[in-house]
Amino acid sequence: MNSSQCTDKLDTFTLGPLEAGPACCDPQPAIQVRNLSLLYDGKAALDKVTLDIYQGCITALIGPSGCGKTSFLSAINRLTDLIPGCNVTGKILVHDQDIHHPDTHAQTLRRQVGMVFQKPTPFPLSIRRNLSLPLNEHGITQKTEVASITEHVLRDVGLWDEVHDRLDASALSLSGGQQQRLCIARALALKPQILLMDEPCSALDPLASGIVEDLICRLRGRYTIVIVTHNLAQARRIANYAAFFWVSGRAGQLIEFGRCQHIFESPSHELTAAYINGVRG
Ligand SMILES: Nc1ncnc2c1ncn2[C@@H]1O[C@H](COP(=O)(O)OP(=O)(O)OP(=O)(O)O)[C@@H](O)[C@H]1O
Ligand SMILES: [Mg+2]
Repeated sequence: MNSSQCTDKLDTFTLGPLEAGPACCDPQPAIQVRNLSLLYDGKAALDKVTLDIYQGCITALIGPSGCGKTSFLSAINRLTDLIPGCNVTGKILVHDQDIHHPDTHAQTLRRQVGMVFQKPTPFPLSIRRNLSLPLNEHGITQKTEVASITEHVLRDVGLWDEVHDRLDASALSLSGGQQQRLCIARALALKPQILLMDEPCSALDPLASGIVEDLICRLRGRYTIVIVTHNLAQARRIANYAAFFWVSGRAGQLIEFGRCQHIFESPSHELTAAYINGVRG
């Protein structure tokens, strides 16, 4: 399989139900981060992070609490714009486009770069409305198109059989795992190329966590996925690449990045080895 075949897989809506994603193959960078520093009220949370995130792959961000993993994700789709006192410097290119260029609109960027949070965050509306609302807000209002996308993304996340006969029930009536899959479906509905996931399984019981993890695996190849996880076994199971962050001099820094096997089996940096082996962190 070559990289163009990987890219071909990115259009969700030409595909049927989920297939196993292909393994990463000679990937190109989808996100290029250069010298990213981030401050909250003048206090550094990230210091000069430089990192490439590869297209069609799963990249796990690992590291102890407070090392800036969530801040890093928030910078990529400019959620940081919404935080008063947050200042971001450095360059981030998403598919070669500078996200801070005046021509880049945050709403367009966030359509391209979807986000899933730690705690499932369905709107307190019906299951159907959770999907139609963001579509409507992005100008997709034609009923048959909205219905078709709704069915497609619910099938994509394995929820269709569970909810197709109660689409008008409240999303809050779903279990936690179902709510999280609905949130992933909501992100997929806007046809993003990139999915940012901040500890998407940590609020779920082991069974629901396993289902969501399996879903994330099957999205590999079709989406570029950046996932924050404290579950190192999970990172090792699902990610192609891992980036290890650490708080150094009070600000989060990227210590090491590489193929998962390298990071987990023969890390180059002693801090990575100590963290992986549970000695530090
Ligand atoms: N909105 C905010 N205002 C001020 N400081 C913040 C804000 N968000 C995060 N921080 C600080 O920035 C640093 C990095 O936080 P961040 O949430 O990015 O870490 P994290 O690696 O995601 O941690 P965790 O694993 O606990 O989720 C921390 O010192 C945190 O207190
Ligand atoms: Mg976090």
